[in-house]
Amino acid sequence: MLVSAKEMLTKAKAGKYAVGQFNINNLEWTKSILQTAQELQSPVILGVSEGAGKYMCGYKTIVGMVKGMMEELNITVPVALHLDHGSFEGAKACINAGFSSIMFDGSHYPIEENIAKTTELVNACNILGLSLEAEVGSIGGEEDGVIGAGECADPEECKAVADLGVTMLAAGIGNIHGKYPDNWAGLSFETLDAIQEKTGDMPLVLHGGTGIPADMIKKAISLGVAKINVNTECQLAFQEATRKYIEAGKDLEGKGFDPRKLLAPGAEAIKATVKEKMELFGSVGKA
Ligand code: 13P
Repeated sequence: MLVSAKEMLTKAKAGKYAVGQFNINNLEWTKSILQTAQELQSPVILGVSEGAGKYMCGYKTIVGMVKGMMEELNITVPVALHLDHGSFEGAKACINAGFSSIMFDGSHYPIEENIAKTTELVNACNILGLSLEAEVGSIGGEEDGVIGAGECADPEECKAVADLGVTMLAAGIGNIHGKYPDNWAGLSFETLDAIQEKTGDMPLVLHGGTGIPADMIKKAISLGVAKINVNTECQLAFQEATRKYIEAGKDLEGKGFDPRKLLAPGAEAIKATVKEKMELFGSVGKA
């Protein structure tokens, strides 16, 4: 059964660890992430961007796939199926399709509009028992083809959005999606500290989990981050493992082309990446 992310994140914030959100792109990724979470007895959040939603044949297909897989694999750890960076329309579509958690990214709207739209979704999610993530301040880098500059959130605006009754809050603190450039200034812990000060128990979300050094991750958790999103690192691990397999000519061995064998090394690489992150975030054994 899919669960809202509320309980797992409340526990994570209180216990000073973070739950990983790992984005899914196909069946193999989903299976690797679920199996690793079960093996490590860790709660987990499966993230679905709108682009990945289209690729995987729509939100209803994804809900069916994830629920079926959890049953077939006997997954007993808490799993939330979460829309990542949803538009207002996308959020409504995922609520209707049976997702257990929604992110509405209204960060590109003027704050008043972000608040109005978030409020509408808070009401819908509350009625259905779903968790809702809101965003204040943009997260830089590329996400589904949209490039953002990355701008630190205003702690007062964070408080205004947190007070609407959202479950978790993503606040820009200098983090970006994808690989960090060599001249990256690092996370703004001053901003994070000020946001936590204003928002109290609210679990904070760190996007752009790929490539943030371990000491920064740990410090961010100590300052109230309870959910960390990882996507690019799984993509890179999958791509590298598949490339090596093909370069070694292994895809041509035996009876000829077998798509299951071709995708197996990438699936194993994702398991290793997810394990490493769960250990770093401290969520192992917290299911
Ligand atoms: P990365 O791709 O940088 O890991 O970020 C993932 C993310 O924040 C998804 O919302």
